[in-house]
Amino acid sequence: MFNRKTATSSMISFESVTKTYPGPSRSAADVVAVRDTSFTVDTGTITVLAGSSGCGKTTLLRMVNRMVAPTSGRVLINGDDIAHMNPVQLRRKIGYVMQHAGLLPHKTVAENIAVVPRLNGASRTEAKRSVDRMLDMVELPADMADRYPAELSGGQAQRVGVARALADEPRILLMDEPFGAVDPLVRTGLQQQLVDIQHELGTTMLFVTHDMSEALRLGHQIILLAEQGRIMQQDSPTKLVEQPANAFVEDFLGLNAVDKTLRTRTTEDGRTMIVDAHGRPAGFLEQA
Ligand SMILES: Nc1ncnc2c1ncn2[C@@H]1O[C@H](COP(=O)(O)OP(=O)(O)OP(=O)(O)O)[C@@H](O)[C@H]1O
Ligand SMILES: [Mg+2]
Repeated sequence: MFNRKTATSSMISFESVTKTYPGPSRSAADVVAVRDTSFTVDTGTITVLAGSSGCGKTTLLRMVNRMVAPTSGRVLINGDDIAHMNPVQLRRKIGYVMQHAGLLPHKTVAENIAVVPRLNGASRTEAKRSVDRMLDMVELPADMADRYPAELSGGQAQRVGVARALADEPRILLMDEPFGAVDPLVRTGLQQQLVDIQHELGTTMLFVTHDMSEALRLGHQIILLAEQGRIMQQDSPTKLVEQPANAFVEDFLGLNAVDKTLRTRTTEDGRTMIVDAHGRPAGFLEQA
């Protein structure tokens, strides 16, 4: 499907990025969160960063909108080093769903969603239209618009976070475990919506998750990280499942666990289905 937006390029490149945080006290050693990591996120595709807690996923994600500055190395968008871009303007062009929704507590749901469109010059009427459209998209009732974040459940707050990040149709979307607090049924629905939105808008997405079935469902490319952002495998979901590079990847996929084995199977209509050890469908692979 062609869309006016798919023509715009928005490739993200990480070039040998390292991030060292100061230690918790003056005598404590510095923390190396990410060491010499390089990868590329192609325009209009979803790259999933997966890996255990503390391996540097959030650090890498936040380098793209300059919430974190690399200690060394570069992050480029379409070949331009973002270190030379205005951080405020950069953030207005990049949607960001924070790990814990990150809504502004003193603004209503509608005001939260309208923040970026308003900053980018949308009129009140246009912003209102975005709010309605976005609430509908994440399947929240329109009358939730006037609530405050403290009056939402965790899953509702996360959906508002997604709505806010998408409200101005950014070319790049960063998502940090956006569905962590959403129950499995709703979660599957949101994942499907995200895939649909990504198809329609051609958004370039970097998506962080712990959940391997979510990674397999969403990613055109999956990057599995070990400690300090070390890339253990960078591949399509099919390749990852069918040819895990090493024992670390197998463990992460659960291939060594008796009851968690994942396999792929081609269905009658030619789609690739992921099934567990008991042959139960666990999802479909999205074709690039
Ligand atoms: N602001 C900070 N100051 C000091 N250390 C930090 C800071 N942010 C992260 N770290 C450390 O850097 C490492 C990577 O953290 P990061 O948040 O990137 O991991 P993560 O993969 O997102 O983890 P999780 O899955 O738990 O969210 C961890 O050891 C963490 O403790
Ligand atoms: Mg994190």
